[in-house]
Amino acid sequence: MELNGKIALVTGASSGIGAATALKLAAAGAKVGLAARRVVRLDKLADQIRTTGGEAIAIEMDVVDRASVEAGVAKLVQAYGGLDIVFNNAGLMPISDVEALKVGEWHRMVDVNVKGLMNSTAAALPHLIERGSGHIVNTSSIAGRKVFAGLAVYCATKHAVSAFTEGLRLEVGKKHNIRVTSIQPGAVDTELFNHISDEGYRDQMEGLRDQMSFLSCDNIADTVMFALQAPAHVNVAELFVLPTDQPW
Ligand SMILES: NC(=O)c1ccc[n+]([C@@H]2O[C@H](COP(=O)([O-])OP(=O)(O)OC[C@H]3O[C@@H](n4cnc5c(N)ncnc54)[C@H](OP(=O)(O)O)[C@@H]3O)[C@@H](O)[C@H]2O)c1
Repeated sequence: MELNGKIALVTGASSGIGAATALKLAAAGAKVGLAARRVVRLDKLADQIRTTGGEAIAIEMDVVDRASVEAGVAKLVQAYGGLDIVFNNAGLMPISDVEALKVGEWHRMVDVNVKGLMNSTAAALPHLIERGSGHIVNTSSIAGRKVFAGLAVYCATKHAVSAFTEGLRLEVGKKHNIRVTSIQPGAVDTELFNHISDEGYRDQMEGLRDQMSFLSCDNIADTVMFALQAPAHVNVAELFVLPTDQPW
């Protein structure tokens, strides 16, 4: 798909993979809605994009809150006149053993990683259907393909993302000419570990940096761009992208 002039929503655009992808989308000529809760960061990113000749607006959005998501999508559609691309990327990974019973963190992961992604899909889909084309890219994970001890709930949420993504592709690909892609990264250098409250797991995750060369956010942004820029009749359904030296 030619991205120049296309209108894209990126959730989780305030840091990491989302911010890197938003920059590449804007550089390719897309008009980008930058969505997340930390609006100061979004404003800074929007300024950076505009300074380099791109187009972007900051959209304060909590994906857990349906009204916030609907309002954010409406703001983007009103600003640019439609919607072509959705990068459902917001997510978090506060991992711990199940027996630690951090039920609040489990619910938070389900709310953001699964229900949040469904909220933004629900708000965006009618606009893509109206256009008769579009592309939805969902950030799953290696944890959406395999299960790891300590990551039971995170893996459950990312398996749900993978299943939802494939089901969506089956329903809207042929019927509405909408492509649907699941991105499944391994270890990427982002802020994702910052929210791990279990010190042991946080140290373990940080320690992985000494064992392998983490992917950069740009590496994943490039894979998203590959899927988006494929010819219109090509739906890159899944992209499983790992550090070369990731041994699991
Ligand atoms: N890093 C990895 O190794 C890795 C591997 C596989 C998959 N992933 C996935 O990649 C995605 C992006 O994560 P990242 O690694 O780039 O980490 P990150 O830098 O922590 O980014 C997470 C993004 O999600 C947003 N977010 C969290 N809760 C939100 C909410 N309630 N509403 C709206 N936005 C929310 C955050 O923005 P605000 O806090 O400003 O709202 C932030 O922009 C996640 O889905 C993650 O599961 C990451």
